[in-house]
Amino acid sequence: MEMALVSAGAVALLVVLLAAPARASNEEGDALYALRTRLLDPNGVLQSWDPTLVNPCTWFHVTCDHASRVVRLDLGNSNISGSIGPELGRLVNLQYLELYRNNLDGEIPKELGNLKNLISLDLYANKLTGTIPKSLSKLSSLRFMRLNNNKLAGSIPRELAKLSNLKVIDLSNNDICGTIPVDGPFSTFPLRSFENNSRLNGPELQGLVPYDFGC
Ligand SMILES: *[C@@H]1O[C@H](CO)[C@@H](O)[C@H](O)[C@H]1NC(C)=O
Ligand SMILES: *[C@@H]1O[C@H](CO)[C@@H](O)[C@H](O)[C@H]1NC(C)=O
Repeated sequence: MEMALVSAGAVALLVVLLAAPARASNEEGDALYALRTRLLDPNGVLQSWDPTLVNPCTWFHVTCDHASRVVRLDLGNSNISGSIGPELGRLVNLQYLELYRNNLDGEIPKELGNLKNLISLDLYANKLTGTIPKSLSKLSSLRFMRLNNNKLAGSIPRELAKLSNLKVIDLSNNDICGTIPVDGPFSTFPLRSFENNSRLNGPELQGLVPYDFGC
């Protein structure tokens, strides 16, 4: 009888020990589920996002690598609304964040600057407000940053000139002010990347115009 109790206890402990790593690896699932709870999803595109699964790798619109780490989130054209929130900053393995052509509002969370592996940040054609966070200058792998067709205001953070891998930027159709940086990758971007920001002046004249002129 005593022996049976001891072994039942041992089995229970073993179950706890085995379950612990699975729970820990679910951090990314928790972050995605937190996003789901803050979004309105009239078309049910997030219906498969079941937080009781071991990881989010079988959820629709989520892609994992061979080590079950979330590398893509594909929710473009999904008719979702609500705000993006800070939780996505916990998806540190993310390479592609595709949230374009929805009805997302609120600000771009500064926590997105934690996504060190991000290659593509596509938030275009939403209703995002606020300013472009300076923290995005930490996205050293970033190649594509499309924030066009939103309601973003403020100036273009000078720190973005540090993004040496950036190939494409699109900030057109916003309410951005000030001047366009000229250094780093900004020396190659066409003016149409910045068009229809009625308060944005041309490329800055080095040393002559303070960057927040007109903001
Ligand atoms: C998007 O959602 C709204 C409800 O918020 C609905 O009226 C509309 O038909 C949906 N659009 C599409 C293309 O599914
Ligand atoms: C300029 O951008 C705003 C959104 O910020 C948009 O509503 C408007 O249609 C755009 N105008 C043109 C000419 O593209």
